[in-house]
This record gives sequence, C-alpha cells and structure tokens, in this order.
Amino acid sequence: MTKKEEEILTGSQGEICSKLLRLLVKLGDSFGADKLIQIKSAHTVLNFGLNFVNAAAKILNQVAKAGLKVKVRTSADPIVDMTYKDTLGNISKLFVLQDQLIRDLTDIGVKSFTCTPYYTDNCPNFGDHCAWAESSAVIYLNSVIGARSNREGGVIDIASAVLGKTPNYGLHLKENRKGQILFKVPFKNWDTFDLTTIGLYIGETAGSKIPVIQGLEKMSTDDLKNLGAASAASGAVALIHVVGRTPEANTLEEAFQNDKPEEIIEIERAILKEIKEKYSTEWSNPPRNIGIGCPQLSKDEVITILKKLKGKTILPEINFWICCCEEVRNEIKNSPYWEIVEQSGAKLATLCPMLTPLPRPYITNSGKTCFYTSATYRSLDDCIRIATGGLNHA
Ligand code: F3S
Repeated sequence: MTKKEEEILTGSQGEICSKLLRLLVKLGDSFGADKLIQIKSAHTVLNFGLNFVNAAAKILNQVAKAGLKVKVRTSADPIVDMTYKDTLGNISKLFVLQDQLIRDLTDIGVKSFTCTPYYTDNCPNFGDHCAWAESSAVIYLNSVIGARSNREGGVIDIASAVLGKTPNYGLHLKENRKGQILFKVPFKNWDTFDLTTIGLYIGETAGSKIPVIQGLEKMSTDDLKNLGAASAASGAVALIHVVGRTPEANTLEEAFQNDKPEEIIEIERAILKEIKEKYSTEWSNPPRNIGIGCPQLSKDEVITILKKLKGKTILPEINFWICCCEEVRNEIKNSPYWEIVEQSGAKLATLCPMLTPLPRPYITNSGKTCFYTSATYRSLDDCIRIATGGLNHA
C-alpha cells in the first residue's frame, strides 16, 4: 500500500473513507491482489429502490452524509420511470427507497441511470481499468471496448468510485484475459434471436471460463451486447472474445494468447431450438406486458423497432415497452421517429423491464430476462406481431 492509502486506512479522511478502503483491501487480499490500481470509470448497481437493497442503501446514505464524492465518472443502473407512473400504478409504490437512493447517488456525484452507460459519456477506452457492476455492462466493457473490470458488487462499486481505485486482480491482468474454451459456429444464417440464444448456451456451458467464439465475425456491437448479456446471466462470464471482431481477438492465436483451448465445442443449430424452449415460460393467457430492451437499447436498435412499428397500433390491453437510456430517449424525442412512438402507442421508457415487476404474462426477446424470470421468449418480430395483432399472429 502507498503511504497515502495507509493514512486513509488510519482515518486521515474520516471513518467512512477508512471503512471503504478496508473493504477494497480485504477484497484484494482474498484474491491475491498485489496493489490497488487507479480506475477511470465506475458503474453501480445500487440504484433500485426496492426494500431488498435496504442494507446497502444505508451504507450509501452514510457515504453521502459524510460528504464523500466519486473520483471518476460514475453511472448507476436504471431507476423506475415516473413518466409512466399511471401505467405502473401500484408497482411504483413498491420503490420506497427510490427518492433516498437518487438523492444520495446524486449527492456523491453519480450521473446517468442506465445499464448501458457506454451509450452516454461513461464510455471508457481500450485498456482502461474500471470498477463496474451490472453483469451485462461488465461483459460489454471487457469484450467490446477492451477496457478492464471484474464483476463488482453493490457497495464495492461505490467504494471504488469514491476512492478511485480497485484491487489489481482477475480481469485487470492480461494473463487472466486469455480465452479458455473455443465455441465454433458453423452455420451462417443467424439472426439476433439466434445470437442471444447462443449467448444463453455459451454462458451455461462456459460457467466462469472465458469463451472464444469463431464464426461470428460479422455480428454488430448491438448483437454482441445481447449475446454477452445472455451469457453473463446464464453463466459467470465477464469476457468473451469473438475472433476477427473483438479488440483482443484479431486472430485465434491472440484470443488464446498463443495457448491451446481447453475444450472445443461446435454449436449445432438444433441446440438453439432446445435453448429457446428451455428458457421460455409459456402462458395460456394473452400477454399484459411485452418488453424490449434488457439490456437497454441503442439508438439504432430503437429506430429498428420503430420502423417495424410504423403504421401499426399496439393493442389497447397490452403495454409495449421499448427501454433505453435517457440520452437515447431524448435523441428519439427530437427526431421524426417520435411520431411513430405516439402513433403506435408504444411506451419509450428508461426503466429496467426485468426488475420492474411488470404483471404477467410477459413476453420479451431478452435472454437475460428469460433466464431470471417467468417470461415468454420470442423474437423481436414475434413480439411486435403479438403486440399489434394478438397471440394468434405469432
Ligand atoms: Fe439492464 Fe435491467 Fe436488463 S439493468 S440488463 S434492463 S435486468
């Protein structure tokens, strides 16, 4: 530890700061970290004002009351969207800690409430060390951007943001970013729904190992986001290399750091049908809510949906949620696409459609949501067909 860190530990910057540092030191010790390193950015999951975060909210409140501020750009996961308070009805009343959390986070300097902070100005550069929580954001950060973060937890993320440091272990070290399992995708005619499903399969197969995918070099960053989020839900995956696509995998050799894969798995198309059925909860009643945007959508993804909705109307008994960050919503509001939002009756919201307990039956194209909750798993086109024409149109 540096002299300054030792002084903080002994209370030079107050008791709360000392406790936060002790937390990071103990975390580092348990993983064999040699030192604390400077971070460029942080992202916290201490955002959701439901009662189950009570203990963590108390710690955050102490941090805010002590007058501490984040030292690096820090964002937080989505909060409930009060624009739709009437539609959410009693659901919004469950968020008893929301006001306190927003006040405390704002007081310590946290900005932006989204699980896709990389669409805001919290977008680090290749090689930057960060302390991000939110598994879908961490896997994007590591895989697509090539910045470095472990999967942090609530409180650890705040401690890192306030101290501007994180223990040097895990994915901060190049040798721990080496690919371990090679997944080959031999078929070419995949779509976004297939890629998200491949993500679910890779996560449950790889566990905490680092997958390398061969055969998907043409996929978009949005598809990488959706595949990664699904993997990070069904497994403890925090980094995926895609040969010829992600920045640390220009070649197969680079992805495996000149080593050999521990295992090679060929993904047959037939497995996708099994996975789609495995993670789908089928309901006999028509849906009350359909949600797109877990993880939240990029501007391009929102525009794709709105183009498909043009000239169509959402059935009155269904809420069709299109979820994105505030920045993307503002861009859409100031574009000609806003007319389609109004004409179709869709709800362009900044909430998290998974953690906001939207009444069931619920249908989504999100692999992550279907892994964690009782949701029906369908492609985007099917979601739109059902939202505008009913179940018989799927
Ligand atoms: Fe984001 Fe909520 Fe899904 S935080 S990744 S929309 S569970």
